[in-house]
Amino acid sequence: MEKVTMEKLTAVCKQYGFIYQGSEIYGGLSNTWDYGPLGVELKNNIKKAWWKKFVEEQKNIYGLDAAILMNPNVWVASGHVSSFSDPLIDCKKCKTRHRADKLIEDFTEGKETGDGWDNTKLEKFISDNKIKCPKCGSSDYTPIRQFNLLFETHIGVTEENENKVYLRGETCQGIFTNFKNVERSMRAKVPFGIGQIGKSFRNEITPGNFIFRTREFEQMELEFFCKPGTDLKWHDYFRSYCMDFLKLIGLKEENLRYRDHTKEELAFYSKATTDIEYNYPMGFGELWGIADRTDYDLKTHMEHSKEDLRYLDPETNEKYIPYVIEPSVGVDRLLLAVLTESYKEETLEDGTTREVMSFHPFLAPFKVAVLPLVKKFHSEKALEIYENLNKEFMCTYDETGNIGKRYRREDVAGTPYCLTVDDETLNNGTVTIRDRDTMEQITLKIEDVSDYIKDKLKI
Ligand code: GAP
Repeated sequence: MEKVTMEKLTAVCKQYGFIYQGSEIYGGLSNTWDYGPLGVELKNNIKKAWWKKFVEEQKNIYGLDAAILMNPNVWVASGHVSSFSDPLIDCKKCKTRHRADKLIEDFTEGKETGDGWDNTKLEKFISDNKIKCPKCGSSDYTPIRQFNLLFETHIGVTEENENKVYLRGETCQGIFTNFKNVERSMRAKVPFGIGQIGKSFRNEITPGNFIFRTREFEQMELEFFCKPGTDLKWHDYFRSYCMDFLKLIGLKEENLRYRDHTKEELAFYSKATTDIEYNYPMGFGELWGIADRTDYDLKTHMEHSKEDLRYLDPETNEKYIPYVIEPSVGVDRLLLAVLTESYKEETLEDGTTREVMSFHPFLAPFKVAVLPLVKKFHSEKALEIYENLNKEFMCTYDETGNIGKRYRREDVAGTPYCLTVDDETLNNGTVTIRDRDTMEQITLKIEDVSDYIKDKLKI
């Protein structure tokens, strides 16, 4: 089947209540997106799946929800104030602004990413290869300037420098600053991890590709603290664990691949970094970064805060700064992968077509749609069933239009099961359950429906 285009996916998301353009009635605000009634459920379920597999089911991983606004020294210590920047280059002819590394990545079709290159090397590559401006085709650029991605704001009434704070550029800094708190309060023993889900903000130069790169996005980050020397083993472990998670929630193996960073690309503090890439409508792109960050973060926070962030091993009495393995994934990017994977236009045996979102039932916004076959006769019973089931999982109720049309609406909403209430329900207490993907129907007693659905929701 042909891959869905980004234009089509964006239109479908808007039409069916997944994602709308931000501030639309005011003409929008570029690259901001609002999650609609179905989108917010899908997003919450993606976060629930991550939390379940990375926090709830893990004996030695704890959850956290740190503040977005932090002491600005955090961002000085982390290096964001001095070097969280992208190489900005302007086309002299049409005045459009580009990320120099992205120009190179697009030109080489991903073979060179420009990661870790200094301005001189980036400029030379662009000029040697006469890379053209994607807008006007000219190759006449300004020199590269570094553009800091942190959003600034002020606490209090005056906009003075000493009141300056930043919207966090990544969620993990709240984890590092709470390392000692969690270790002490939970009596945690290395190896242990801290997981967090929350918003991050980056003043990206070239946001785009729908929700792939935005200035406001959510991250699901795990910082796993381990003994130096065991870090590469844990890096390997999380590389596989993250890939298995993606397959578990329904992404196909053929649309996923690992990309190990070369020595040249690695951040100076990292021993190993692997990206898991997904085959988005515009091609393969980074979905999940799994980095061995060594002891860089705790060390730098220890130096700047003057707090002792070393760990005392209760068995060996050894004191050391733990190494950190960090699997970090964007919620919106994962949601885009789930949408890309799930959206299908199918031609049925009778020649008609249908649109389907084949989400894993755990992720589906609604688990069950309760449909009275004939409103006049069956709606009372159907509403009673709906109200009972809705206490256990998200359900929807629809009594308008013919049953075929209602099935189609649920298919594209991604509802895995349609429960039809008809005369059999009134006479024998049974309902039919239609499977979204196979379109097959089975008959169940009303009292068995809940267990049947619950079993399908497992991940
Ligand atoms: N703490 C490490 C860190 O933040 P990153 O590679 O910059 O690393 C991690 O970001 C993940 O966050 C990415 O793999 C991606 O899924 C997501 N992400 C980063 N920037 C994003 C943006 N502008 N829009 C949407 N998602 C983004």
